[in-house]
Amino acid sequence: MITEANPQSPETQKLRKSSLKHNWMHVRNWIEMAEEGDPLIIKEGKGLTVIDTDGNEWMDVNGGYLCVNVGYGRTEIAEAVRDQMNKISFTPRGTTTEPVARLSKKLAELTPGELERSWLSTGGSEANETAVKIARAYHKRNGDNSKYKIISRRGSYHGGLGITTWLGGYGGQGSRVDYEPAPMGMLYAAQPNLYRPEVPGSTPEEITVNAAKSIEDLIIYHGEDTVAAFIGEAFSADTPFDACAVPGPEYWPMVREICDKYGVLMIVDEVITGFGRTGKWFGIDHWNTVPDIMTMAKGIVSAYVPVAATIVTPKVANAFAGEANIFPQTLTFGGHPVLAAAALANIDIIEKENLIDRAAELGEYLMEQMQSVGSKHRMVGNVRGLGLMTAMDLVKDQVTKERFPPEANVEKIMADKFAQRKLIIRPRGLLCFSPPLCVTRAEIDQFMQAVDEVLGEVETEMGISS
Ligand SMILES: Cc1ncc(COP(=O)(O)O)c(C=O)c1O
Repeated sequence: MITEANPQSPETQKLRKSSLKHNWMHVRNWIEMAEEGDPLIIKEGKGLTVIDTDGNEWMDVNGGYLCVNVGYGRTEIAEAVRDQMNKISFTPRGTTTEPVARLSKKLAELTPGELERSWLSTGGSEANETAVKIARAYHKRNGDNSKYKIISRRGSYHGGLGITTWLGGYGGQGSRVDYEPAPMGMLYAAQPNLYRPEVPGSTPEEITVNAAKSIEDLIIYHGEDTVAAFIGEAFSADTPFDACAVPGPEYWPMVREICDKYGVLMIVDEVITGFGRTGKWFGIDHWNTVPDIMTMAKGIVSAYVPVAATIVTPKVANAFAGEANIFPQTLTFGGHPVLAAAALANIDIIEKENLIDRAAELGEYLMEQMQSVGSKHRMVGNVRGLGLMTAMDLVKDQVTKERFPPEANVEKIMADKFAQRKLIIRPRGLLCFSPPLCVTRAEIDQFMQAVDEVLGEVETEMGISS
């Protein structure tokens, strides 16, 4: 963004123009960016801090898309990539490599229960596409030819490719109408959102139990012989209504029971909640529940390179054993040795630096600061999360929980105010704080102070001062 205090060098302006003309950035409006001196062009980073091409330092409060778990600038990962490229850069057909064998074993060790066999790929969407295909094929291999429907939750996000485009979803069909018709068999259950409940209930327990029951209702209504799998994130990530809505303790054990009762495979999407983000290795570990299939990406390699995995239990894997049963899917970059070497180096950092415990401890500290700031502002309806995956729900009215209307432009006003303070935060109905796990208390204090200031200024401008 160009401001008087932040002029752009001729070189930056050239890069910006090239980007504006040729780079189709994800979910950004290139007309608005051109008017506002965006996009910011980042050239390096360390920890939470990133530096743009004019030397300005910014704090990336959400570590990219909640994915840079070990922080920016970890040369250990770069070295692992270089070393592996110098040894062997790809896998001759029908063979595998040392880092892939080691990573697969490591994932089996880290994930709960019997999960033990990983299908490697290069993104969360691919991992979830793979999970759905495995689930459907599993039932066919077992002679259950009619089990193909997939239950996901309204307000969840599982990716943007084929089937994953149709899993979860929020804001009505808004983002999906372009791609209709929807594939058959997509069913949607309620979110276990205690602040904005979709199901009846006057206590957290009732809401939690009823949200789990909404899955059972769908299975009964559609017929257990038609449902292949249920998929949900351990808890939802950066989505406009349900971000960081942590379900009550009853939820996942109940979902497990329901899935077992009706022969439905349980898929847990740990693309964001995995690898320490919530203060445990995986989000589902907070509920001591083991899925049949788990997917992961992002934190598996702190997004240094693209890596993802779909890990399954022996019960699932056994349906694909033997020549006649092979899972017929090949993705060229799945199981890439260089990417696996990067993931191993990333996991090594998480272990050596004890980042899981650190996320739990700093997460508690962050929550205390959020509660303290939140209690000062009428715009903050709710503060929630677990570990370093947290959100503030922004409301126009704390009693009705009504959101600001789009014409109030509150999100843009806030994003600009954060940018003036050199913070990268993009509000979407909520303010999401999911910093790298190496965040310090001083950094938390710094960005929470800015959040306090910005909320205060916006409230004054909106005439809703506390
Ligand atoms: C929970 C969850 N699952 C899946 C995905 C898709 O991952 P990717 O963008 O790597 O395809 C995302 C992306 O943000 C996610 O948040």
